[in-house]
Amino acid sequence: MTVSKSFIAGLPKVELHVHHVGSVSQRVVAELASRHPGTVPSDPAELARFFVFDDLSHFIRNYLAVVDLIKTGDDVRFITYEVAADMAAQHIRYAELTVTPYISINDELPAEAFLEAIEDARQAAHRDHGLELRWIFDIPADFGIPAAELTASVALDHDVPGLIGFGLGGSDLGYPRSMFRDQFDRARAAGLRSVPHAGETTGPQSVWDALTSLGAERIEHGIAAARDQNLLGHLVEHRIALDVCLTSNVALRVVSDLDHHPIRELVAAGVTVTINTDDPPMFGTDLNNEYAIAARLLELDMRGVADLALAAVDASFASSLSKVALRAAISSYAAMPPP
Ligand code: ADE
Ligand code: ZN
Repeated sequence: MTVSKSFIAGLPKVELHVHHVGSVSQRVVAELASRHPGTVPSDPAELARFFVFDDLSHFIRNYLAVVDLIKTGDDVRFITYEVAADMAAQHIRYAELTVTPYISINDELPAEAFLEAIEDARQAAHRDHGLELRWIFDIPADFGIPAAELTASVALDHDVPGLIGFGLGGSDLGYPRSMFRDQFDRARAAGLRSVPHAGETTGPQSVWDALTSLGAERIEHGIAAARDQNLLGHLVEHRIALDVCLTSNVALRVVSDLDHHPIRELVAAGVTVTINTDDPPMFGTDLNNEYAIAARLLELDMRGVADLALAAVDASFASSLSKVALRAAISSYAAMPPP
């Protein structure tokens, strides 16, 4: 069973697990690298090699080198708008974009200027492309409690339009999710939804930790849950979705290849799985490609692929009004696929 690329490309989609700087196209990274010569290559072939990773920690090092290329408010405005335009070109209508203020703000680019730049781009994306962007501010675990405190303060001490979630990214190995309970408690008390990474390079315990210590309402990755029947049952019972990124897990050598990805076991257990990209240009993918891979692995027809898009709408933190509109757009497209 194959679903055509054109059906997937035209399907209205939402994306729930995708990182801000990790979504900057290779073309834009190369342009920034030629403006600021350093560790990131501007030559396309060399840049493609720079985006081949041994593991998550190698990825984080290179990711941070790309972050260093984004120096001014105008750079932030530009990359954020370009990311949104790339999303809109794939018929992504709504996205929860994970932003990591701790690594992006500094003395030259203070929180206020950073927040103003992402808000300008968010509004422009809606005006020009009809894309609804929402933010998840995440703690980069590798930088510890100081980063967690700063992330909480940027999220909670400013008025941030579009901010809906609080996350935790970076390494999971060596950083028990419970370390960040205090910051998550405060973010949740302020109404932010809890969406930590867990169970990416670690085992099921980190997913349990995210649920019990951080009140996770969705889990970014969470694929280690496939190894724990009780955890699978818990995710099903409490309707906790896993925001899965198939190509990312291969690129960071979390799984050996796509055919060994546990997505089938997760779906067979009844867990809600959403399809996402994580850091698309860094892993040589995009959301349409991820849907095509999921369709192959899960042996889906067009209806099944549309159901994946609907599951992501249900799992999202979009307003009820937006959910109604997104569901209607998906359902009407799926009933009338283009020739
Ligand atoms: N930040 C960007 N991509 C990430 C990933 N795959 N895991 C953890 N943190 C990330
Ligand atoms: Zn991620």
